[in-house]
Amino acid sequence: MGDTEINPWGSESVKDYGKLSKEFGIENFGKFAGKLPEPLLYMKRNIIFGHRDFGKVAECIRRKKPFVMMTGLMPSGKFHIGHKMLADQIIYYQKHGAEIFLCVADIEAYNMRLAGLEQLRKIAIEEYLLNYIALGLTPKKCDFYFQSGRSADAKKSNAFYRLAGTVPKRVTMNEMKAIYGDLSPGKIMSVMVQVADILHPQMEEFGGPRPVLVPVGIDQDPHLRLTRDIAARMKGNGEFDFVLPSSTYHEFMKGLKGGKMSSSDPYSYIALTDDPKIVKDKIMKYAFSGGRETIKEHREKGGDPGIDVAYHMLEFMFEPDDRKLRKLHSDYKSGALLTGELKQILIERVQSFLEQHQKKREAAKKQVDKFLK
Ligand code: TRP
Repeated sequence: MGDTEINPWGSESVKDYGKLSKEFGIENFGKFAGKLPEPLLYMKRNIIFGHRDFGKVAECIRRKKPFVMMTGLMPSGKFHIGHKMLADQIIYYQKHGAEIFLCVADIEAYNMRLAGLEQLRKIAIEEYLLNYIALGLTPKKCDFYFQSGRSADAKKSNAFYRLAGTVPKRVTMNEMKAIYGDLSPGKIMSVMVQVADILHPQMEEFGGPRPVLVPVGIDQDPHLRLTRDIAARMKGNGEFDFVLPSSTYHEFMKGLKGGKMSSSDPYSYIALTDDPKIVKDKIMKYAFSGGRETIKEHREKGGDPGIDVAYHMLEFMFEPDDRKLRKLHSDYKSGALLTGELKQILIERVQSFLEQHQKKREAAKKQVDKFLK
């Protein structure tokens, strides 16, 4: 069966992050939040809740030592506010000294039958890269690459595919089944390439051994566990002496309807290219409410911010002020604040963000070439 509770290719949403962390030995991120420079909201609010081996990365940030932030993206559909959570982290680490390796998982997406390689490339650039740039990613010390063609530099490219091609020796089929459950040739290939994605920044051709941080959603933890095991086995073998990669895990932002944001349902997410006028409608009509059936009942008994998606989005992204957020929480709970009013606050925040962002996204088009070597 495998770890069906965490399935990188699944569509279930995670119910209990604490339980999962315990089960898989993920440590609490909390103690780092106060120690990092200019911590992100996700750090302060425990939305980035877990980590493996983050200590050595925190140390690099503190002592201004070289480290890498490497992560990947599946170029599927529209870039939405859930994806923005990872983008913000990438940009944060770039700002705080990391060398960035950013992988477009087009081989994975292709083998999972999402689209053809040309189409995937287009989505990666127009949806992901443009939005990353608009959010603040800069080309300096940033290696943006596609799994389907690592680099124009033959030495680098050969090194990457040599690594990907020799990873399978370090893992058995039983181990793979225990981690992933149901497998297919496409999944196996994707896993091997992803292990290479995570480890290759430490090859001599890419700068040699140094700490590598992989910020991801919790669904990617099986890959991280496997990669760390493989890196340890390579050490024993004397071929490579990689530092075991570190990782952090963030909770997923809920979709408008309360479940997952899904690229196949535009009413489950807010895309960064959504027309601000449509966003108003999306939130008013579809955002799952923790309010009561009638105003009278709401005033009497109060709402439930714990299940309210408008509150959730304010907490995750759109209300940076802790005091104001606490007030929204207590006013909603007491019934002083109505669902419509809470939604209106979110709508205004999202609209003003989108208006500014979309201008930056237009301007970002001129920069794209600097990222594509
Ligand atoms: N599998 C990841 C996803 O589904 C994408 C990915 C590919 C990745 N290579 C990676 C993530 C390396 C982190 C590190 O989103």
